[in-house]
Amino acid sequence: MRHARFFFSAFFMNGFLSRTAVAVPALMARAGPDSPLDPSEVFDDAVLLKVRSVMEQLCTHSWENGTKAQALIEYSYPDYSPFSADFGHPIKSNIPDEIIAIARTTLQNRPTSQSADGSNKGPGPLLQDSSAADPASLGIAVLLASLSSDPNVFQEKIKGVGYGEAAVSQLNFLLSGAKRNEKTGAISHRVKYSQAWADFVSMVPPFIAYYGLVKGLPEHLRQAYEQCAIYRTTLQEDTTKLWRHMEVNTVENKDENGWDLSGRPDIGLWATGNAWAASGMLRVYATILKSKHKDEMGEELQNLALWVQEIVVASTVYIDLNKETGLLHNYINDLATFEDTAGSTLLAATMYRLALLNITTAYIPYANKIYRTIAKDHITGGGYLTGAVHPLHFNLSADQEGTQSPEGQAFMLMMHAAYKDYAASVPKEEPTEDTGGYSQPAVFIGSPSVPQRRGRDVFEDAQT
Ligand SMILES: *[C@@H]1O[C@H](CO)[C@@H](O)[C@H](O)[C@H]1NC(C)=O
Ligand SMILES: *[C@@H]1O[C@H](CO)[C@@H](O)[C@H](O)[C@H]1NC(C)=O
Ligand SMILES: *[C@@H]1O[C@H](CO)[C@@H](O)[C@H](O)[C@H]1NC(C)=O
Repeated sequence: MRHARFFFSAFFMNGFLSRTAVAVPALMARAGPDSPLDPSEVFDDAVLLKVRSVMEQLCTHSWENGTKAQALIEYSYPDYSPFSADFGHPIKSNIPDEIIAIARTTLQNRPTSQSADGSNKGPGPLLQDSSAADPASLGIAVLLASLSSDPNVFQEKIKGVGYGEAAVSQLNFLLSGAKRNEKTGAISHRVKYSQAWADFVSMVPPFIAYYGLVKGLPEHLRQAYEQCAIYRTTLQEDTTKLWRHMEVNTVENKDENGWDLSGRPDIGLWATGNAWAASGMLRVYATILKSKHKDEMGEELQNLALWVQEIVVASTVYIDLNKETGLLHNYINDLATFEDTAGSTLLAATMYRLALLNITTAYIPYANKIYRTIAKDHITGGGYLTGAVHPLHFNLSADQEGTQSPEGQAFMLMMHAAYKDYAASVPKEEPTEDTGGYSQPAVFIGSPSVPQRRGRDVFEDAQT
């Protein structure tokens, strides 16, 4: 029997399709490229504990703490992650202490002059920062604290402000306070001048969408989508379809905060930037999918799924050239730059999530390869990720790569959480023979409301 509930779509990729349509061999007994890894190839509990404790030690900046919160949600408290099948709507009110602690620290550090009337409640970012976007990465943790059923938490005021008030204040700052590009409507990644950075897509749209889901406000779900759309138009490079780290045309390129941009923006196709963008868009996708408004937003869902895959497909073109490790180079299309473990790890997490959202399993072989390489060669006995780009100096040469990456620690937890869910989703029984059949699941997208058939089924269909 043949099933035709999925369709292959060549849409945007004419030129790419032939290079990236991976012919995945039909499964051999227990060893297919999209089979779960061998347990010996996966982080064990002792390693994961260390990864987590190093993450705790290293995270200090706004976006690092926000990324840490997200990693903890995905890894330890999936009830609060729209990626998870257990995500509750309404959200469960027993908000974990660890998330509340992050929200509390954030409010303690929150700047005090947020409004003209001195109430400290006007539109304003959660933290003082040269980025208008990075503090918003903590928005979900703060919003969750406001939903706690514990009166000591939901009634708590820090410097006169409660969690709910701080979350609204952050939201309103994004919607009406932050600089915008006058032509495109892009909310700026920076405070002082309007500039788009790919990182924004993981910092801002997932928070705006989550807020929309929690409060039942579809206009926020749409705004989150719109910002992804605008950022893609602004940052996508035409030939490769990868995203630039920063936009080409900016009012002012010089950073006020000690960032060495050498007087010009980083317009390279930065691995971590592309992973931030793909991961952020997929979080928005999952949030819309879990909202009450998913049926009205079919087109938005379809586009987001497409745009995430656009980045993933374009990245795998360069991974193909680098079969040894499966890692992305720091500037994806510049094979002279070092292989970066941080961006690669977040991209692998995204590839597993694409499968779990029933969008495509085509990239599981790549994700598995990255996971294997990280676990085998890029983690120290103490739980530090090695070979990660320096998060503050993204354009260093190979021998100057970072020795510590706070965000890289969080990405490892995200990759593992996604992997674990993926492994659990794969049926235990394996085909016992090699069917000899081939399939080309380059990219297949279906209506998100229609359960998608998995790659495994595609292989099975091929022989019937
Ligand atoms: C990030 O979290 C750490 C650990 O709790 C804290 O010391 C630091 O102040 C936080 N950073 C910001 C910008 O809030
Ligand atoms: C990195 O910096 C070098 C030297 O300053 C420059 O030549 C190169 O174009 C930069 N790379 C990117 C991707 O910006
Ligand atoms: C994906 O498909 C599986 C199997 O049909 C189903 O259990 C799961 O709910 C689906 N996930 C999503 C996000 O649609």
